[in-house]
Amino acid sequence: MSITVSQHPIVRTALTHLRDKKTTPEVFRRELHRLSQVLAVDATQHLVIDGYSVQTPLAKAPGFELSGQQALIPIMRAGSGMLAAFLGFLPNAYVWHMTMSRNEETLEPEFHGSKVPAKIAPNIDTCFILDPMLATGGSACLAIDYVKKAGAERIVFVGVLGAPEGAARLQNAHPDVPIIIGAMDERLNEHGYIMPGLGDAGDRLFPTT
Ligand code: PRP
Ligand code: URA
Repeated sequence: MSITVSQHPIVRTALTHLRDKKTTPEVFRRELHRLSQVLAVDATQHLVIDGYSVQTPLAKAPGFELSGQQALIPIMRAGSGMLAAFLGFLPNAYVWHMTMSRNEETLEPEFHGSKVPAKIAPNIDTCFILDPMLATGGSACLAIDYVKKAGAERIVFVGVLGAPEGAARLQNAHPDVPIIIGAMDERLNEHGYIMPGLGDAGDRLFPTT
């Protein structure tokens, strides 16, 4: 399936702020939001719309509405930084938080919980998985496995920064899931961090000290 790496000037400039180690959490949050808005445009462009007629003050005009319901699945913690941008475009979407954290020794994700319904209703036409970082791909694959088991039909993964290793793992495991991403970096380092990357996205958004 497809991988779309954004070339948009807003994405490229916002990502530069995210990468800069001097960027404060306040600016990091703002730039992640700004970048995510552009990704939201890319990620939603294939949503299906139904036509209907609308009455203007002067005459009838053709109108459109989204034909199905969408679900946003932010992966905690860092995915929460993308959520407001997507809700700006899809204010009626369900939000199903999913919590996991990567074991820093094995580099595999550990699942902590989810608000994804046990059986996803058939009126949900697209589930958007939101996570800024696609490193080894383990977290994205776990999230998609989970959502598929719950019955999701169409899933889109949206990230800010990826590594080739993670993109390949995700494409092999889930070739039906399109990937929309802000940039693709060179490689992972020996600790599983994206290089040159932006560091730990969760810590930069939500520093604890
Ligand atoms: C980060 C990131 C992804 C994951 C990516 O989260 O937000 O969820 O790592 O790595 P992977 O592709 O190798 O699985 P982390 O587990 O560090 O949790 P955090 O968001 O709470 O910092
Ligand atoms: N998670 C992050 O937050 N950053 C990385 O580079 C890899 C995983």
